[in-house]
Amino acid sequence: MLHTRLNIALEDGLFTLPDSGQILVIGATCDHNLSALPKDRVVVYSRFAPDVTKLCADGYDVIHDLPDTGFAAALICAPRAKALAHDWVFSAQKAVGDGLVILDGQKTDGMDSLLKSLKKKAQIGGILSKAHGKMVWFTKLDAPDWAASDTELPGGFITRPGVFSAEKIDKGSEALVAVMPDEINGRVADLGAGWGYLSRHILDRGGVTALDLIEADRVALDCARVNVADPRARFFWEDVTRFKPDTPYDVVISNPPFHTSRAGDPDIGRSFIQAAAGLLKPSGRFVMVANRHLPYEDTLAKHFRVVEDLGGTPGFKILAGLKPHRTGR
Ligand SMILES: C[S@@+](CC[C@H](N)C(=O)[O-])C[C@H]1O[C@@H](n2cnc3c(N)ncnc32)[C@H](O)[C@@H]1O
Repeated sequence: MLHTRLNIALEDGLFTLPDSGQILVIGATCDHNLSALPKDRVVVYSRFAPDVTKLCADGYDVIHDLPDTGFAAALICAPRAKALAHDWVFSAQKAVGDGLVILDGQKTDGMDSLLKSLKKKAQIGGILSKAHGKMVWFTKLDAPDWAASDTELPGGFITRPGVFSAEKIDKGSEALVAVMPDEINGRVADLGAGWGYLSRHILDRGGVTALDLIEADRVALDCARVNVADPRARFFWEDVTRFKPDTPYDVVISNPPFHTSRAGDPDIGRSFIQAAAGLLKPSGRFVMVANRHLPYEDTLAKHFRVVEDLGGTPGFKILAGLKPHRTGR
C-alpha cells in the first residue's frame, strides 16, 4: 500500500522530500492515505467528483487540471490504464522540472510493466518493493511521446486515456442502444454519461427536449462536450448519488458503473438505481443495462412500482423501472 511504502521510504531515508515548495499528488483517491506528506504543502490533482468531495472535506487543496510548472516534487498514484499512467508521469516531470518524481502502484495495476518502460526513459533513483506493489523515484524523464492524445472511435467519438471504455464502445451500451425505445420524450438524464455514447443516441430520439449528462470523471465529461454537440444537452461534473436536478426527469437512462476499484461492486449500481428513482417524475421511466450476473432486480423492485425486462444479449440484460416509489432520496 502507498502509505506503507511511503512511510518506509521516508523513515529509511531512501529519498528525501524537498524542504520547501509544493508537492503535487496525482491520482490519489479517497482510499489513499497521504498522512506521511506535509499536508500544508500538498496539492492533489483529481478528476473524479466523489474523490474531490472527500479530499476537500479532509482538508486537501485539490486541483482539477494538471499544472504545467511550479512544483518541488510529485507523487503519482499509478492508475490501471497504461496510457493514463504514461501521461501522468510525463505531466509530473513537466510540473517539477528538475525535481523528484515518485511513482507508486500495486502489481495488480500493472506496476511491473510500467517500471520496465520507465527504466528506458528516466534516471531511476531507487525502487522499493513492498506490500504487493512498488515505489520508484526518478528524475530526468525523456518521454515526450508519453503525453496523452485523443483516440477517435467509430462514429467520430473522441476519448482520452483513463476514461471508461477509452479504446472501444462498450458492449453493454451497444446492447442498450439496440433496444432503446424509439419514443423517449421530454426531459432526460444520462447517469454516468461517460464520453457520451448513450447520450448521442438518446438525442437521436426526436421527442427529447432536454438531456442532462451527469458524470463524475471530468475528462470523460470534457470528451462528451465534444461528442454530444447539441443545444439540448447540459453537462454536470457531479456524483450521481448527490446530484440535485432543477426539475424531475421524464426518463433516466444509465449504464451504471459496476466497480469502484478492481473488484466488482454491485452496490454502486444499486446506488445509481436509487438515485434514478429520486430524480424521476412520479410517472417517470428508468432504463438501464447491466452484466447478466449482477443482481439488480430486487433493488429495482424496491424503488419502482413496475419492473420490466427489455431483453438484451447473452452477456447483458436491459431492465426498466416505471413509476418510482417515493422512498428514494
Ligand atoms: C459503465 S460506464 C458508462 C459510460 C457511458 N454511459 C457509456 O455508455 O459508455 C459508467 C460511468 O459512470 C461514471 N461514474 C462512476 N461513478 C460515478 C458517480 N458516483 N457519479 C457519476 N458518474 C459516475 C464513470 O466514470 C463511467 O463513466
